[in-house]
Amino acid sequence: MATEHEDRPVAIVAGGSTGIGAAVARRLDQEGYRVVVVSSKSVDEGESVAAELDGSWFLRADLSEPGAAAEVVARVGAEHGRLDTVVYAAGKTARIAHPDIHAVTDDVWDGILKLNVLGPWHFVQAAEPLLRKSPNGTIVVVGALAGVDVGGSSIPYAVSKAAVHHMCKLLGGALGPEIRVNAVAPGFIETRWTEDWTAFRGQISDKAPLRRTGLPEEVAELVLGLIRATYVTGQTVVVDGGLSLLP
Ligand SMILES: NC(=O)c1ccc[n+]([C@@H]2O[C@H](COP(=O)([O-])OP(=O)(O)OC[C@H]3O[C@@H](n4cnc5c(N)ncnc54)[C@H](OP(=O)(O)O)[C@@H]3O)[C@@H](O)[C@H]2O)c1
Repeated sequence: MATEHEDRPVAIVAGGSTGIGAAVARRLDQEGYRVVVVSSKSVDEGESVAAELDGSWFLRADLSEPGAAAEVVARVGAEHGRLDTVVYAAGKTARIAHPDIHAVTDDVWDGILKLNVLGPWHFVQAAEPLLRKSPNGTIVVVGALAGVDVGGSSIPYAVSKAAVHHMCKLLGGALGPEIRVNAVAPGFIETRWTEDWTAFRGQISDKAPLRRTGLPEEVAELVLGLIRATYVTGQTVVVDGGLSLLP
């Protein structure tokens, strides 16, 4: 017979060591999830997030590698025997002004598409059998406002996020009724990613409807909302303090 502990749902947070993913891991823990935190380089941070949480553990994996998601899911399945939620927050960019098209090499495209598009795709493929058995099988991918509007740190990054939003829409149509797939599209969120975006931060404080940048916890709240929203699938929800409303 399953113990109370074993009955708790299980989530993988890919890119859960820092920033938005770490906030999601903490929020899921508050909701009673056992969270598996995954990242590639920030091992100390990942282990320390997992150590804060009840029944959580850290797994190191480079999710731009083709077999990595399958290995992570296999480990989680072997350890917990179930998987209820995958949140994919791992991401990569290159800062290249959009008109500077000759600076965008194929290597830049390759690195960004592998982590931002193929990474979540491989998770979906690997996790699908376990998620189908869950009473609330859900996938939430962290996309970006750059994939909705004109903007973003480079064209390959923006294209990768638009691709992942569309992927979630198509998968929402393909994987029901057992699995729901949604994306969130953050604007400017205060993480190590945006630490030195001083000028843009100032513009947002001056002009965006909510007059401030966002916090990782505010994105985590939306991710949790989508996990709970049992009649929502295939959607991309913008979380940007109204930034995208500016003319
Ligand atoms: N901050 C913003 O304003 C903003 C806006 C829109 C969208 N986003 C999106 O939000 C997501 C999270 O970003 P963040 O702002 O929270 O930045 P962050 O703190 O740098 O988080 C990125 C996470 O991805 C992990 N990661 C990177 N490369 C990886 C790889 N190859 N394999 C496994 N994990 C990898 C990182 O850990 P390691 O480096 O240790 O691997 C880290 O846990 C990204 O997808 C980003 O595109 C952020």
